[in-house]
Amino acid sequence: MNEPRPAHLQPLPKMPTGIEGFDEVSQGGLPRNRTTLVMGRPGSGKTVFSLQTLLNAVRSRRERGIFVAFEESASQIAQNAVAFDWGLPALPESKLFFLDAHLSPTVVQSGDFDLTGMLAILKAKKERMGAGWIVFDGIDVLLAMLRDPVAEMREIYRVRDWLADNAVTAIITDKLDGRAPEVAQYDFMQFMVDCAIRLERRLEHGASVHRNLLKMRGADPPAPVAKVTLSSAGKRRNPNGSGNSGCKKTRKEVRDAS
Ligand SMILES: Nc1ncnc2c1ncn2[C@@H]1O[C@H](COP(=O)(O)OP(=O)(O)OP(=O)(O)O)[C@@H](O)[C@H]1O
Ligand SMILES: [Mg+2]
Repeated sequence: MNEPRPAHLQPLPKMPTGIEGFDEVSQGGLPRNRTTLVMGRPGSGKTVFSLQTLLNAVRSRRERGIFVAFEESASQIAQNAVAFDWGLPALPESKLFFLDAHLSPTVVQSGDFDLTGMLAILKAKKERMGAGWIVFDGIDVLLAMLRDPVAEMREIYRVRDWLADNAVTAIITDKLDGRAPEVAQYDFMQFMVDCAIRLERRLEHGASVHRNLLKMRGADPPAPVAKVTLSSAGKRRNPNGSGNSGCKKTRKEVRDAS
């Protein structure tokens, strides 16, 4: 008879993203109460992926989420989302809360900066709302401002400890710099995550195609890699011309990775 598998080898329970195609290849979505790193070059779709996941959780399953924006202001993000017709402004703050964490380089580089205060506010907010999801969008912007590898590491550890103490399903987005070798850029963050997604944006037959490469820890077989191809989802490029191509209406192809 087969011995039961040790707990650390069991597949992680998942939370659906609601992004059709992605949930199939990831066998259920993102690891529950764990952290997923979403990385990609500028414009590859990291913010859209994270926001879409949060919105689907709030809308379809009545969960609550917090979006921490390090790079763009909440109003910029809401403005970008208008193109997708997601009805973002209609959602109350008690369900989806945007925390503007847009920092001034002068404050960050003064030497006294750390994330302790912001994380305390976030904890109180999370408990008040009963939020089960959190997105840290554009953490690379904060790290770049610190301009010091020791300080970068210190703040990353602070976020990791916060996530470990607060049972939330988290997404951290990190921009890859096209000029630096990828491994060097995100390698040091991989120790704190259970799932890593690499987003790509390509032009195929004149249309912009967003593709996800997925690497999941604790999966069986270990670390499968898959691709989800999302054709252009924005209203502006809807191939049917209906003018409404929100997350549900995006055409997707799912295929095994080579
Ligand atoms: N799945 C998708 N389908 C169609 N268009 C998309 C998709 N994801 C993103 N886009 C489009 O690509 C543009 C860039 O997306 P987004 O802002 O999410 O990129 P990003 O990776 O967060 O960029 P940055 O690194 O600059 O923050 C958006 O304007 C959006 O319209
Ligand atoms: Mg972004």
